[in-house]
Amino acid sequence: MSAIIDHLWLDVCALEDIPLRGARRIGPASRPVSIFRTGDDAVYALVDRCTHKKGPLSMGIVHGSSVTCPLHGMRIDLATGEPIGADTGKGCAPRVEIRLERGRVLIDAGALGV
Ligand code: FES
Repeated sequence: MSAIIDHLWLDVCALEDIPLRGARRIGPASRPVSIFRTGDDAVYALVDRCTHKKGPLSMGIVHGSSVTCPLHGMRIDLATGEPIGADTGKGCAPRVEIRLERGRVLIDAGALGV
């Protein structure tokens, strides 16, 4: 019998470690990942680089299921990493696989190069 492992999940923090309607940045500078927590406790993870000029999305303002980049105000959909509104079609912040399990936040270890 053989098994295929498609994800190695890494426990990175508790949900409560991420501010409500905020974010937490993890990973090395070469592979920063931002984990976002919405007002209704949904979690999303994106590579922490805006599609415009690589602004730190983890420093942005979370509203609903989107984040506004702190540098020039582009709005990014947290579920897809795609810009919203007038900026639609201007690239994508790569999504990172994430899941919530018993109050712990787990991400795909591959996103951090593990
Ligand atoms: S770097 Fe994000 S909007 Fe310009």
